Amino acid sequence: MSAVVVVGAQWGDEGKGKVIDFLAQQADMVVRHQGGNNAGHTVVVGDEEYRLHLIPSGILYGDKLCVIASGVVIDPRVLFEEMDYLARRGIGTDRLRISSQAHLIMPYHARMDALSEDRLGVNKLGTTLRGIGPAYMDKAARVGLRVGDLLQPQAFAVRLKRVLDEKNRLFARAYDVEGFDYDELLQTYLSYGEQLRPYVANTSVIINDAIDAGSRVLFEGAQGTMLDIDHGTYPFVTSSHPVAGGACIGAGVGPTKISQVYGVVKAYTSRVGDGPFPSELLNALGSDIRDRGHEYGTTTGRPRRIGWLDSVVLRHAARVNGLTGIAVTRLDVLDGLPELKIAVAYRYHGELMQEFPDNAEMIDEVEPVYETLPGWSQSINQVRQFEDLPDQARAYLTRISELIQVPLVLVSVGRERTNTIPLTALF
Ligand code: IMP
Repeated sequence: MSAVVVVGAQWGDEGKGKVIDFLAQQADMVVRHQGGNNAGHTVVVGDEEYRLHLIPSGILYGDKLCVIASGVVIDPRVLFEEMDYLARRGIGTDRLRISSQAHLIMPYHARMDALSEDRLGVNKLGTTLRGIGPAYMDKAARVGLRVGDLLQPQAFAVRLKRVLDEKNRLFARAYDVEGFDYDELLQTYLSYGEQLRPYVANTSVIINDAIDAGSRVLFEGAQGTMLDIDHGTYPFVTSSHPVAGGACIGAGVGPTKISQVYGVVKAYTSRVGDGPFPSELLNALGSDIRDRGHEYGTTTGRPRRIGWLDSVVLRHAARVNGLTGIAVTRLDVLDGLPELKIAVAYRYHGELMQEFPDNAEMIDEVEPVYETLPGWSQSINQVRQFEDLPDQARAYLTRISELIQVPLVLVSVGRERTNTIPLTALF
């Protein structure tokens, strides 16, 4: 039995796309189980760069079954755009399966996302404005529409009418904006349903059967631990569960089926959107790292906030995910920096804290306590063996692993598949 979950250990954008692509080589099936097109994965294969938001990046291999499971929220328009984008590049999607239970992102969700961010003003969350939060809100409120509903046109028409009447009332009365036309929306979504029909399946059965048959299944987490709705920096979080347990809920597999949980750790920290970020670098060094690392969002193009590596965050991630290994990415971005800092604890009103605070007000006031390590001067991009890394780079990696008590399983030193140093068998 081999089911591996890969999660982001920080605030997303850790380089999961690259790590998942590397692991996918050995997988038979790749599963997306939460989030939606708020995610953005960039995968570089030779001279080609692929940007995916919804379809598991395993699709690039051509021989993996790729699953969008029930925990994902799907904007069909974006999905079709992504399928066309892949088709134009000669990549077929006939090995894609989509859960009938996955919820649909409707145009009113994106509008609601924008209106509520606007209304929050300076307190906005900095969402991706893709309608993710409102789609999950409707799911929890039990007024969501699901992929499977599209395959039952009559029932869908009735449900849509009921939901849309309510949404349009809300738009008119609470926001004073026009609503959506029922007939137009119905026709558009029913035609989406026909396009989706060949892909729709009971994906929990497919995934469990694959695990039971001894296939290698890779669960591709989106976003990151600190954006988890329960275990992240609430309310500045996404509306799903990027933590490892989210794979079980979002894919319909039991926790006993998961064999490994790898946390992807960027060698420094970044965050896009608003919210607390204790080790943030609001200085020229932060801008320098942003430029070296091309730290601009894949989905929204927004500049990412940059900071030192924070082992308090990583210890939290190790605990809430039950990490069995870490994959450290973008180590090459730190080439040439004379020294590197790692936050090893926080100070709160003079007291030392080892654990990430469970209270939003405290998080705003903590000050990181740093440990300083020497940097390395040479370029590490071409290194392929851990032993060939400069001493300082090895010491940095070893220290990270020691601080969070999780073994290092992989190091990424560049964007391409080949710029990867695996330290152990990963499946
Ligand atoms: P939402 O997921 O669009 O509702 O946005 C909520 C928060 O999660 C915002 O701070 C977003 O910037 C952040 N977020 C959502 N998806 C990603 C991601 O894939 N990477 C990094 N941040 C993300």
